[in-house]
Amino acid sequence: MSKISIKLAMYFFTVVMIFQIVLLYYIHSNMVEDYAEDALTQLQKHGTNYRDMLAKNYTSSTLASILLVEQGRDRDVIVLDEHKQLVVASDPKLYEHYSLFLSQVQVDHDRLLLTNWKEEPYIMSAHPYAIDGNTGYLIMIQDTASLQEIANKIGTDFKTISITSIFVLFMAYALLSRRITRPILRMKRATESMSQGDFDVKIPSTTDDELGELGHAINGLAKDLAHMKNSRNEFLSAVSHELRTPLTYLIGYSKVAMREDISEEKRKHYLTIIHEESTRMKALVKNLMDLAQLDEHKFTIEKELIAAKPFIEQVAQIVSHSFAEKGVHLTVDCPHNFTFYADPLRLEQIILNLVDNALKYSEPNATVTLSCKQSASQTRIIVKDTGHGISEEDVVHIFDKFYRVEKSRAREFGGSGIGLAIVKELVEAHGGSITVTSELHVGSQFIVTLEEV
Ligand SMILES: Nc1ncnc2c1ncn2[C@@H]1O[C@H](COP(=O)(O)OP(=O)(O)OP(=O)(O)O)[C@@H](O)[C@H]1O
Ligand SMILES: [Mg+2]
Repeated sequence: MSKISIKLAMYFFTVVMIFQIVLLYYIHSNMVEDYAEDALTQLQKHGTNYRDMLAKNYTSSTLASILLVEQGRDRDVIVLDEHKQLVVASDPKLYEHYSLFLSQVQVDHDRLLLTNWKEEPYIMSAHPYAIDGNTGYLIMIQDTASLQEIANKIGTDFKTISITSIFVLFMAYALLSRRITRPILRMKRATESMSQGDFDVKIPSTTDDELGELGHAINGLAKDLAHMKNSRNEFLSAVSHELRTPLTYLIGYSKVAMREDISEEKRKHYLTIIHEESTRMKALVKNLMDLAQLDEHKFTIEKELIAAKPFIEQVAQIVSHSFAEKGVHLTVDCPHNFTFYADPLRLEQIILNLVDNALKYSEPNATVTLSCKQSASQTRIIVKDTGHGISEEDVVHIFDKFYRVEKSRAREFGGSGIGLAIVKELVEAHGGSITVTSELHVGSQFIVTLEEV
């Protein structure tokens, strides 16, 4: 498995190592070169000094004092006469070693003769001096062992630094993998268990960076999914319950209606019930389909300008027959001729649902008022009734799917508790809002507010 922590560590490691190797190599070679250069300069400087002493005062005591000064150092002095023959040497063996090389020295000013300190055992400089019109040479020689030792020591130090930094890098990697990959792995496990249907996940948010935000988002998602799962289950059981009840009636009454031994009058009565129940079921299925479409945002709202007064009057016309049948008065109050900006079919569905409720939950002789108003940049449709009213505890739930106040009297009122849920979704899809005020046994008022164009 290619782990993100390993990939991260590899990138991190490669970049830091390349940078470090280049940097260390640069510092190392610069430091060593500086040391060597310094040694060569010192060698030449001393040679020049001694040569000047000799040029001024070429005596055996000067020669002796030069040898004395250099005694005990890792430098040696060789003085050659005009025939390049040895005059004095601090280390005669050295002269013997280089006698052939020195016999060929031919320089007219101070010069370095051997500088390759990395490979040669000695570095060397030559300093010509004039005596009685002839040229002699003072040769400075330095052992390169100490230089090589310093170079080696710096090399070893830098190796130690490199090894230590590898160790530090690994520590950093371990820390990084804890801080970055652990939360990622935790989130991976959480999403895996979510895809298995377990939404009881909680990712601790320890940081406020992008990872913390991601964890927070996953927690929110788990909560939403759990809620959706719950409401889907509730919805499904409510739907099946709603469908089962009329089906039970249909089966029961059709069985009775098929019996031969009942009167024609009773058969007609049962058939009427079957008709009513199947009509109710058809309405319920239509509502459910509406709701499903609303939930999936599959329906489209096509807003247009609607003349308020004729529109409201036309809707009132549709329901007037049912109102007359039950003996409930319907008053339309839409004085000003302004315009709604809405989808006419959906707006009609909204008003019909509200007016249907007002009628359903009112007794004969009650009054329902359907009015419309325009104020500021808003238009309102108000459905007011003097019916049963809704208690304070119930009123907060009436827009929930399948919520009915008088569950036991569902048969009497014929509702399934979906109407207001659809109304709310439709109003909100228009960008509007719906509010309700109600008092038990006094009446209710539903206000739909829409924005003007
Ligand atoms: N005008 C009203 N007066 C009193 N109670 C009301 C009124 N409107 C709604 N309710 C209560 O709110 C509940 C929910 O209303 P909703 O319209 O969603 O469902 P329904 O009318 O029972 O069924 P349907 O799905 O057929 O509309 C109703 O069952 C009723 O108890
Ligand atoms: Mg209703």
